[in-house]
Amino acid sequence: MSQSGEPVSGAQRGLEPQGLIHLADNLDVLRALSDASIDLIYVDPPFNTGRERRYTRLRTRREPGGDRRGFQGRRYRTTRLGTLSFDDVFDDYLAFLEPRLIEAERVLARHGTLYFHIDYREVHYCKVLLDRIFGRDRFLNEVIWSYDFGGRSRRRWAPKHDNILVYVKDPTQYVFNADDVDRIPYLAPGLVGREKAARGKLPTDSWWATIVPTNGRERTGYPTQKPLQILRRIVRASSNPGDRVLDFFAGSGTTGAACLELDRRFVLVDDSPEALRVMARRFAGAPDLAWKGFDPDAEGRAGTGRGAGGRR
Ligand SMILES: C[S@@+](CC[C@H](N)C(=O)[O-])C[C@H]1O[C@@H](n2cnc3c(N)ncnc32)[C@H](O)[C@@H]1O
Repeated sequence: MSQSGEPVSGAQRGLEPQGLIHLADNLDVLRALSDASIDLIYVDPPFNTGRERRYTRLRTRREPGGDRRGFQGRRYRTTRLGTLSFDDVFDDYLAFLEPRLIEAERVLARHGTLYFHIDYREVHYCKVLLDRIFGRDRFLNEVIWSYDFGGRSRRRWAPKHDNILVYVKDPTQYVFNADDVDRIPYLAPGLVGREKAARGKLPTDSWWATIVPTNGRERTGYPTQKPLQILRRIVRASSNPGDRVLDFFAGSGTTGAACLELDRRFVLVDDSPEALRVMARRFAGAPDLAWKGFDPDAEGRAGTGRGAGGRR
């Protein structure tokens, strides 16, 4: 507490705040993070948005004296080939992801886990890319998130799921808190006895969860917002209180919202000012946040009219 009785944030004390939120290209932020400094990563990259993206094309080659460290400590040299823009075209998409995922692997702690959330059309290509970066032996799971919303095709099986690929840095020592995970009801509770039925069972790798309801309290208005229920489960299972969680495609900040509830620290990155505005509203009142490249108070003054979150 300060003398005035106001809470003093970690940032004010010169410590890292609970939440650090960047308006930036995630590659720049990733490169500035130290090796093995993150306990859990969740990412939900965009795809087929139809939006033009600009990115820097890089060529990375293995070279003993290279400036970057990659898989199994090998050195790499990266050459910048120029800045391109693209409309979510497939080949360019993997080229966009690759340097970011190489950095993700580098910043993940020895006991850390990456959750990579993707669409059923791209998951296979992304799995091959991630196997290359992490190694196949570090692939832990493919979680299928099934939802039931919208129309049903009469010409094929209506696609109603997303895929979440899970990789660990070290298969012998990753965090997995099975006892902390929310339990789900048995399909036939009458067959298992009253006590077991009341406790519910552990989820498997198939998760049923509704999409964010269009008129619920959780809804931020951000078009690609993911349900808090999914992020709570991931954060509980694969991190401990006080751990540092990274989401470098943060959108509306669902990962940060789960971390605030569950007492984890977090680093969020998005390159869209709209995403940062949504996060500022979502985190309004959270006492210990710092914003980089974005002033939530100025945004509030500029007219959202709903309070701006702020460096509290
Ligand atoms: C699918 S959305 C994430 C949604 C998020 N999981 C949620 O619950 O709201 C992907 C986000 O990645 C951001 N993004 C795309 N390219 C980026 C880049 N190079 N650096 C930082 N953010 C980026 C987009 O602005 C978008 O907000």
